Amino acid sequence: MTNAEMIDPALYRNAMSRYAGHVQIVTTTDGQERRGVTVTAACSVSDSPATVLVCVNATNASNAIFEKSGRFALNSLAGHHRPLAEAFAGIGKLPAEERFAKAQWLSLVTGAPVLSDALASFDCTLLEAKVVATHIVLLGKVEALHMGPPSPALIYFERAFKEL
Ligand SMILES: Cc1cc2nc3c(=O)[nH]c(=O)nc-3n(C[C@H](O)[C@H](O)[C@H](O)COP(=O)(O)O)c2cc1C
Repeated sequence: MTNAEMIDPALYRNAMSRYAGHVQIVTTTDGQERRGVTVTAACSVSDSPATVLVCVNATNASNAIFEKSGRFALNSLAGHHRPLAEAFAGIGKLPAEERFAKAQWLSLVTGAPVLSDALASFDCTLLEAKVVATHIVLLGKVEALHMGPPSPALIYFERAFKEL
C-alpha cells in the first residue's frame, strides 16, 4: 500500500475507540529496575503452549527494558484498579517506584512483578520481540498464572474507563 492509500491515522484511532479493550499493566524487571506500562494492546495467542502477546510503543526508549530483560507479566485489571492504571499510563508523571508503591506485587517464576489482586496475571518468558510500525510486539510463553479475587473488569471504550 502506498502512502496515498494509507488509512488516515486519526480516522484509524477513531474507529479503534469503538473497540472495547481490557486494561492491563505489563511489567518487567531488570537488575534493580522495574517498569510497568498500562496497555490495552494485549491478547491470547494460544493455549498450548499458553502464549500471549502485548504491544508496547517502540518510540518510548523506556520500553527497551522489555526486550532486554527477556521476561514480562501481563496483569489484567479490575474496575477498582483505575487509579493504578492511570499511574502506569504516566498520569501524574510519578517515578516508576512510586507507581509500584501503589499496590502489592508478587514474584512467581520469571521474577516479573505480578499484581497480587489482578483478575489474572500471566508470568512470561519472552519468546520473540518484533518491531511492527511504531510498536514492539512481545510474544510471551506463559510460565505461571495467578488469579486474584473475582471482580468487575476495567475496560477502555470510547476513550474512557468503564467497568464490566
Ligand atoms: C487505556 C490506555 C491504554 C494504553 N494502551 C497502550 C498500549 O497498548 N501500548 C503502549 O505502549 N502504550 C499504551 N498506553 C500508553 C502508556 O500507558 C503510556 O504511554 C506510558 O505508560 C507512559 O509512559 P511512561 O511510563 O514512560 O511515563 C495506554 C494508555 C492508556 C490510558
